[in-house]
Order: sequence, then C-alpha cells, then structure tokens
Amino acid sequence: MQIHKLTPAPIRFARRGNKENPFPGGVGVGCWRQNQMSVKQILTKDNFSREEIITLLTCIGEERTLLFQKSAEVKEKYIGKKVWFRGLIEFSNICSKDCLYCGIRKGNKNLRRYNLSDEEILAAAKFAFDNNYGSLALQSGELESASVTGRIENLLHRIKELSGGKLGITLSVGEQEHEAYKRWFDAGAHRYLLRIEATNEDLYKKIHPRNSKHDFRRRLNCLKSLQNIGYQVGTGVMIGLPFQTNEDLANDLLFMKDFDIDMCGMGPYIEHAETPLIEYAGELLPVGERFDLTLRMIAILRIMMKDINIVAATALQAIDPIGREKAVRIGANIIMPNITPGKYRDSYKLYENKPCTYDSAEDCQSCLEARVSLADNEVVYGEWGDSKHYERRRKDQIQFTTE
Ligand code: 5AD
Ligand code: FES
Repeated sequence: MQIHKLTPAPIRFARRGNKENPFPGGVGVGCWRQNQMSVKQILTKDNFSREEIITLLTCIGEERTLLFQKSAEVKEKYIGKKVWFRGLIEFSNICSKDCLYCGIRKGNKNLRRYNLSDEEILAAAKFAFDNNYGSLALQSGELESASVTGRIENLLHRIKELSGGKLGITLSVGEQEHEAYKRWFDAGAHRYLLRIEATNEDLYKKIHPRNSKHDFRRRLNCLKSLQNIGYQVGTGVMIGLPFQTNEDLANDLLFMKDFDIDMCGMGPYIEHAETPLIEYAGELLPVGERFDLTLRMIAILRIMMKDINIVAATALQAIDPIGREKAVRIGANIIMPNITPGKYRDSYKLYENKPCTYDSAEDCQSCLEARVSLADNEVVYGEWGDSKHYERRRKDQIQFTTE
C-alpha cells in the first residue's frame, strides 16, 4: 500500500502547550484575548460562531467549569439525568479498508481475524433482550457484498423475531450502497452510525489512503442516503488527530449542526502501533489534553444540539478509568456496553488500551451500572431511547410537506 508522507503544516495546531499557554494554536485561540466575548457571554447564546466555539474549546479554569455546568444543565433539562444502553456486538473485525489510524485496518497482518457465527450474534442479542436493554448496536469492519447485505438483513429479521420487535437496532457497518441501507431499514434497523472522522477534506485525505476506497465525498453521500431513507443518523469525528486544528474541530461541530444529525459518537484519537499514523505519535497532544478536548466537544455540542443522543465513547475510558462517567455528567446520554463474546474482544482493537477486552457481558453491565450512578445519572431499561431530535425533525418534515 502506498503511504503518503505527511508533513505537519507549521501554523496549524497539534502542538503541546505550556504553562503560559496551555492550548496553543489555531485562529482566535485563547480566552485571554481582548475584544473577545467572555465565555459567560457566549454561554448565554444557543448558536455559536466558529470563533466562539474555539474560545470554548480553549478556555481554562473557572470558564471551563462554566462550560461544563451549562452543558450539564442543558442535558438535565432536555434529556434528564439518564443514560440508555446499546448492547454493542462487534461481530467481525474483517475490514476491506485501510484507514491509516485504525488497528483493524486490512493492512494489519498482526491480528487474528474473526467473524461471529449467526448463532453467536443471536445469543448476544438474546442476552441484551433478557437483560432488558432497550437496544443493541451491530458493528463490524467495512465490507460490501451481496452476501454481507443478505446476511445482515437476515440477522435483523431474526433479532426482531427473538425480541418480539422490542429490541431497537443501531447498525454501524460503514459505507454501503443506498439499496443495502434501504433493505436493512426495511428489515428493522432504525439507527445508523457512520463517523465522518474529519470534516476537513484535506485532513481526511491525510489520515486515509488516497484511493477510491477512501473517498470523503462518498462517505458524505452515504450519510445523506441514510438520512433520506429515514434512519436516525449518527456521525462523529476523532479528536486529537495529527494535523488537526481547533478550527477543524469547531468546523466539525458546525457541520453536525448544519447536517442536522440525530446522534453523535466522537472520541479521542488514540495511536495504534500497527498503523501508519504511529509515525506521528510524537506530534500529538498529550492524551490528557485529547481527553479534555473531547469532553469540551461533547459539552459544546450538547448546548448546540440539545436533544440529540450523544455517546460516551469507549475510547474515553482508554485514557481515564472514569472517562465515560465524566462524559455522562457533562452531556452524553448513551453508553454502549460491550456484549461481544469475551473470546473475540481482544481482537477488535481499534486503538491501544481498549478497555473491557477481558470482561464478560455480565461484568460489563454491572460495572457500567455502578459507574452511571456514580455520575449521578440512572440507566433506563426497556426503552429504545430514540433521539428526541429525530422525532422533532420528522414532525417538522411532515408538517412542512402537508402545508
Ligand atoms: N483511535 C480512536 N478511535 C479510532 N477509531 C478507529 N481507529 C481509532 C483510533 N486509533 C474509531 C473510528 C471509527 C470507529 C469505529 O472507531 O472513528 O469510526
Ligand atoms: Fe477504517 Fe477500521 S479501517 S475504521
């Protein structure tokens, strides 16, 4: 595979801070700048400009606390102090793509590949149902073929059947043709997660091989297809990527607002030794800063899009043992407990330090329940926990077309 030599642009963010200037970089950075609205003033608004988002991404001390207080208030008011589970089944780590950051990329030959049998997937779905999870999420590496489409369609029917239609289903199996998305929607999947990974096309190109299999425009079109079909659509980005600026991150949030997403899953980028991007490990923000930036991104998005579903990404816990709880406190409302059969978990390593790879599904559940209550929130069982934003969006659409 051809790997492009990546040269960090000199004026761009992605550098370590220091005591005087802990978050150096991008355009308009720093709350200490004069002629700039204070964080307190910015937080009285619902819509933020790019510059205001950058201020929120970089403020420190009491201003940072204000941001998190505000986002927690918004969550409580619009969502409640609640968390919904999506039992996560990582059913195969076989991937046709070669994203330069991802541990299960096709080019990583140092990995045992697996593909759960239909019976194993259905047993995990049954576990979710028996434990009163409202929903599950089926995730895998990206593969496109008639047999994959047919297999997933069949599994969706069987999961609906075993749960009497009660289990909600999120799919996350990458870029596909419109027809495959449509068949799966008709078979009962109603949410789809497809992270755009980076909305700056130049950055996207730097973290993917430059070929038609890794085409930014196609990914975007897939998101549009999903929305047109009627899915609740989720997207997200990685935070702290090499070459990424605060301006990029602000644009990512504006993209999500503009696209009118229903769900978001975003997490810190964590380097993986068996990937080409490891070459830039020395250029990255320290993990603690990547973690904090992720919390800020979640908090800002919660204020901008009050009633969407936001996932507390597992990658947060790879950095901080109570990372997901922190995200729940300041705005996230979805957790995806891993219910993949234990023997396979170690092989779905997208990044280093992935937590819970040795736990059984039961361990994960009781551990997470305790964690959620530590975050002063409660787990809601037996409900789909659909995005309220989606309901509102659909109502508005219907009203609009009948007027
Ligand atoms: N660090 C963090 N997240 C990663 N993902 C893939 N590789 C990494 C990594 N090294 C995320 C991508 C993908 C999701 C399934 O996992 O955002 O969409
Ligand atoms: Fe792209 Fe795994 S190779 S997300």
